[in-house]
Amino acid sequence: METLLLNNTDGDIARAGDILRNGGLVAIPTETVYGLAANALDGAAVAGIFRAKGRPQDNPLIVHISHIDQWAGLVREIPEAAMALALAFWPGPLTIILPKGDIIPDEVSAGLDTVAVRFPSMRTTRRIIDAAGVPLAAPSANLSGSPSPTCARHTMDDMRGRIDAVLDGGECNFGVESTVVTLATPVPRLLRPGAVTPEELRDVLGSLEIDEAVMGQLREGVQAASPGMKYKHYSPKAEITIIKGTLDEFVSYAESAVVNGGEMFALCFDGEEGNIPLKCVTYGREDDPLTQSHRLFTALRELDENGAARVLARCPSTEGVGMAVYNRLLRAAGFSVIDVGKKCK
Ligand code: TXA
Ligand code: MG
Repeated sequence: METLLLNNTDGDIARAGDILRNGGLVAIPTETVYGLAANALDGAAVAGIFRAKGRPQDNPLIVHISHIDQWAGLVREIPEAAMALALAFWPGPLTIILPKGDIIPDEVSAGLDTVAVRFPSMRTTRRIIDAAGVPLAAPSANLSGSPSPTCARHTMDDMRGRIDAVLDGGECNFGVESTVVTLATPVPRLLRPGAVTPEELRDVLGSLEIDEAVMGQLREGVQAASPGMKYKHYSPKAEITIIKGTLDEFVSYAESAVVNGGEMFALCFDGEEGNIPLKCVTYGREDDPLTQSHRLFTALRELDENGAARVLARCPSTEGVGMAVYNRLLRAAGFSVIDVGKKCK
């Protein structure tokens, strides 16, 4: 199949809408990462997403809407807490899970009795949903296991020949996927950190539990609240180790680390390149987690493009949006962390 490259024009957005309405697959930009979209109400179209990504069948999808009044048709009911979250953070990078309505095909919910819904803030995304005239199911547009794409080129690298079209809407603003919170549990629970932080959610909800898989590895035998969290994720080909400690401690560790075969790289913060005795790829400013989230997945792909075999990564702070950055980096590193200092928690 030839994959069309569409642009952010009225004509191409209408074309993307036609393809989606007719059961096709189009990768679309959002403010978080590129998504691989299909008509969320068409089980056969949604099944195509799983094939194109090589996604495990038991990993449910997020449904994207372009107007808040589409939500009620997708879920059993909208409790007060859910509406409060929507009023505070929608449109934006927050996904809310609730018991699902009958209209949701099993392919979307992967057999669960809940559905995840998101109202994106990027204007182009909403125009595509409007053009399709249906809500869109869309996971991140990467091959399963790879870093999520944050620009049309990375999306095309993964999806060329597998889907009908990629619509180029430029670089994604946040660069990591949405915050996922479930209200289908007795106490609201954070399943995936993102640009909407736990503190911000608590301000609206009062109480919020943080799922244990957010900051660590799911223990053997524990069922994943969010099936996506049990899979290997965001992984470049290079083997990454997160080094907890100060820049000086990182540099000492890098000086003593030897690598057998292939090249060792550093994944570090902007401006640190001069201090580190390795080839460097940077991922934002140490004191600004939004610059880190914007860069992280691109940096992981750049490491592969540069032929990195092993990577020592500087450890981000886990405060605020930093929790989302650390969560993704930890999975990219396959949970490999070495603590060489005392400072970085
Ligand atoms: O920012 C985003 O959320 C992007 C853009 C395209 O909107 N989408 C995205 O989708 O990241 P995906 O499929 O890559 O990640 C969705 C996560 C997965 O970990 C999945 O297991 C979880 O949300 N999820 C979806 N529906 C769920 C449900 N009903 N219950 C629990 N977890 C769910
Ligand atoms: Mg994903």
